[in-house]
Amino acid sequence: MENTQEKKQRVLSLIQPTSIPTLGNYLGALKNWKTMSRDYDCIFGVADLHALTVRIEPSLLRSQTRQMLAMLLALDLDPMNNIVFVQSHAHTHAELSWLLNCYTQFGEASRMTQFKDKSRKHADNVNVGLFDYPVLMAADILIYQSDFVPVGADQKQHLELARNIAERFNGIYGDTFTIPEPFIGTKGAKIMSLQDPTAKMSKSDTNPKASVSVLDTPDVIVKKFKSAVTDSEASVRYAEGKDGINNLMTIYSCCTGLSYEQIESDFAGKGYGDFKAAVAEAVVEELRPLQAEYNRIISDKAYIGECAKQGAEKALYVSQKTLRKVQKKVGLWQV
Ligand code: TRP
Repeated sequence: MENTQEKKQRVLSLIQPTSIPTLGNYLGALKNWKTMSRDYDCIFGVADLHALTVRIEPSLLRSQTRQMLAMLLALDLDPMNNIVFVQSHAHTHAELSWLLNCYTQFGEASRMTQFKDKSRKHADNVNVGLFDYPVLMAADILIYQSDFVPVGADQKQHLELARNIAERFNGIYGDTFTIPEPFIGTKGAKIMSLQDPTAKMSKSDTNPKASVSVLDTPDVIVKKFKSAVTDSEASVRYAEGKDGINNLMTIYSCCTGLSYEQIESDFAGKGYGDFKAAVAEAVVEELRPLQAEYNRIISDKAYIGECAKQGAEKALYVSQKTLRKVQKKVGLWQV
């Protein structure tokens, strides 16, 4: 591959194959991943090893991993400049993770709030993997010498841990890892539940009307927006106390590129019914190409298998360099 351009900075992120992303995941993260891929050298992966930290049916893990890979491929990133892969297909991650374990203090890992939350939630299965989860995540990040990691608020502490581990290691052995920064470019929008606009849109919501899946059909999308919770003012404007309308305006703005002022003037004097219909329509149009591409990819087993293989090859090529370097520095005998 010839590369005459200046070396781009690297962005890395992984997503767990738990279920089909919501509109919130898409507008908050995935849509930006596509934008970033134009300016950065991007590596995006499916974190199947992380998904094993809670009990999951093997066949479900397998199918969801394939679905999530298809979803990432459907973003249509330029395959020459970006890597899309499945975490477990690059054995280097788990290997580096072991080495980094030996440079992570029990105390600092114990302070991870997600570990504490999940231990409470899965009290019958507080396994060592759950405890070690952030170290594997540090390995994911550091093994590619990533410059930036786009993460949500819930992963900030984990990124901080990755930075601490990297700094500690560099301190002992000399420059080895790039210190990753949180990505603070184009901010992903925070999309709220359609039924309770004070809570984040979540796929685990028990009310199916609360969240929109990126694979929902146009009919379902229209219905869900029709029943979205708003207020009794009947005026489309972005203001404090209008959580439902603010959320719909955010969604509409993300899909159309219109500013809040433009939206307000376009819908001046119109009712919420019209506005909800317009938002639903914009979402349907936004998701149409993604859905078409996803459906094409997921139904072509040979193609998606080939993409996974190529992704793994590229991921291995890059990550092996760092792994070898680390192995050498710590004194493992390389023959
Ligand atoms: N823990 C992340 C999450 O659940 C997923 C993840 C795994 C990740 N490895 C990563 C995110 C590396 C960013 C970088 O959201």
